[in-house]
Amino acid sequence: MCDLVPVIAADRVPVGKPVRVQVNDRCCIVCNDDGSFHVTDGVCPHAGGPLGEGEVRDGCVVCPVHYWPWDLKTGLTDENMPDFRLRVYPCELRDGTVYAAIPHEPPRTNYDLDCRQR
Ligand code: FES
Repeated sequence: MCDLVPVIAADRVPVGKPVRVQVNDRCCIVCNDDGSFHVTDGVCPHAGGPLGEGEVRDGCVVCPVHYWPWDLKTGLTDENMPDFRLRVYPCELRDGTVYAAIPHEPPRTNYDLDCRQR
């Protein structure tokens, strides 16, 4: 596993609303699910929806395009689509900052390059 790096101050991540961040050239989101923090890819694995514009509820981030819920722990959806899986990254809260282990990898899409495109 790669090293945990600081991603964002926890108090900048409201309950229920994902916050887009760019880490190691990847567009990611940070989610606050009633005080439990999660870091995932920011691009929906179904059809590229901008998950940063979705919402967090019941342990999932809900994509704003087709409204599929993605489990923040497993990356799976309950739409019986096992071939689709959202990348979730190990993370932890330290002294009010969310840290995550996000690998250095070549971006898979242009959307991975720059969160501002979404
Ligand atoms: S693009 Fe996200 S559920 Fe279809």
